[in-house]
Amino acid sequence: MNDRRVSVVEVGPRDGLQNEPQPVSTADKLALCQNLIEAGVSRLEAAAFVSPKWVPQMADGLDVLAGVTAWLNTQGQAQRMSPKVALSALVPNQKGMELAVQAGVDEVVVFTAASEAFTQKNINCSIAESIDRFKPVIAQALQAGMHVRGSISCALGCPYEGAVPAAKAAEVAQRLADVGVMEFDVADTIGVGTPGQTRAVFHAVGHAVGLSRVAGHFHDTYGQALANTLAALELGVRTFHSSIGGLGGCPYAKGATGNVATEDLVYMLEGMGYETGLNMAGLIHAGQTIAQALGRPYASRAGRALLAYRTR
Ligand code: HMG
Ligand code: MG
Repeated sequence: MNDRRVSVVEVGPRDGLQNEPQPVSTADKLALCQNLIEAGVSRLEAAAFVSPKWVPQMADGLDVLAGVTAWLNTQGQAQRMSPKVALSALVPNQKGMELAVQAGVDEVVVFTAASEAFTQKNINCSIAESIDRFKPVIAQALQAGMHVRGSISCALGCPYEGAVPAAKAAEVAQRLADVGVMEFDVADTIGVGTPGQTRAVFHAVGHAVGLSRVAGHFHDTYGQALANTLAALELGVRTFHSSIGGLGGCPYAKGATGNVATEDLVYMLEGMGYETGLNMAGLIHAGQTIAQALGRPYASRAGRALLAYRTR
């Protein structure tokens, strides 16, 4: 494994848009996915097959994925895994899994939390019930040859329970590993963690399931996402999630803002000599285009600075 290579999972079309109050058109979502892939994104979380009553913004997941797949085919990328664009979707239950199979995604993401209260609010069951519910979902995904990720929300703090011990995220990761999860997305849902705590949580989760299978998913609510990324990077984590332009938030974590902006993450990583395979000009184009479609200012700090520099 190349230690200087960092895998960036782009979650903008899912985490970035799921909380948008106004409906975002399928065409705008599709354009976003295309722009991201053209910027070099190779792992794209494009949809969530969740209840449309709970998260209406994600109701057109099948159409978005059909559009991306058709477009990839016209680009000569029918073999999505080489050259690689792996498409993923969130699936909370078997109904979601059926839709993921129909969409033909490469990766599915089952999701629970290190906090009981958040799990109840987000997916209407306990942590133990969620993991039971995942068993047949994961079996089906593995049979279909899909990569299976497991997301652990509130690993660094919960909007309902407050502090969450590092051991809790590690315990949930172990329970997910026991039912077949292959990659563990450790999430700071409300962006509340600081680097020392990040080190403790990732150390504990790494001890449980192996750091090479762990990804950092940092929301930037308190401005800590890049600092936390660096703390996890220094421990040996080499997969990080980000959202183009820093878009997003979780409908069940009021006030939480988006993930770290992809442009800011890439600026830091490439500045440190890591390879991401992503093209900054293409990312800025994707970020500006979706910001315009949403009618809001383009918010990536690095993206804005580079644009200002270009037009000096
Ligand atoms: P429930 O109400 O307990 O489920 O919700 P149910 O099985 O009783 O079904 C209720 C209705 O939903 C039924 O329809 C089902 O068919 C339908 P009805 O008979 O009333 O017409 N339904 C579905 N429809 C489409 N796709 C499905 C599906 N499942 C049921 N998969 C459920 C339980 C899990 C479905 C619900 O709580 C839910 O959808 N929750 C998702 C919430 C969500 O999407 N949250 C945001 C994503 S997680 C996140 O952002 C965190 C993350 O970024 C990491 C981090 O930052 O922390 C990943
Ligand atoms: Mg998130």
